[in-house]
Amino acid sequence: MARHIEPRPILGVHHAAYRCRDAEQTIWFYSDVLGLVEKTGIVLEEVTGTGEHDPYLHLFFRMNNGEYLAFFDAPGSADPEWFQRKESFDLHFAFEVASEEDLLAMQERINSYGISAVGPVDHGFVKSIYMYDPNGIQMELTYRVKDHDKILAGATDAFPAKLAEWTKRTRGAKEAKFGAAAIDQRARNPIAA
Ligand SMILES: [Fe+2]
Repeated sequence: MARHIEPRPILGVHHAAYRCRDAEQTIWFYSDVLGLVEKTGIVLEEVTGTGEHDPYLHLFFRMNNGEYLAFFDAPGSADPEWFQRKESFDLHFAFEVASEEDLLAMQERINSYGISAVGPVDHGFVKSIYMYDPNGIQMELTYRVKDHDKILAGATDAFPAKLAEWTKRTRGAKEAKFGAAAIDQRARNPIAA
């Protein structure tokens, strides 16, 4: 079933990108509060691809490992409703820190800005704190506990059986909710079929 496994050229994350209400407010949160000080951005007059005149600012924060978190400050196309706080299952983003000490120091720092950073929550393989950014996106800071790799590797062997069991248990409900075609898109892609 699994084909086209090699080569595997994807290295990691270049950027994840979200909307923001306002670039300066977003810079306050990510630079001042969280400490992502390396920021840059470009102002574009037209939407790439469509050529439609709708100016926007594309903002980038560089993290310590060279990966970026990006935002679009695009008031012309923004829906104010989008910035309501979103459920974590719908959208959240997790930054990694090196240790519990760093996590707790960051929690204190974030709280000192009047932002509620809740936790730490013990997930077994990681421990995390959670807060909301000014755009309604839940942000997580997490660190890997000593046995992180062992715990995840330990789950790997049992995963195919768990997945099969999960699919069997939920497939009917998902077909009823989404329609069978919507959860069977692989059938339309000859490469993955
Ligand atoms: Fe998470």
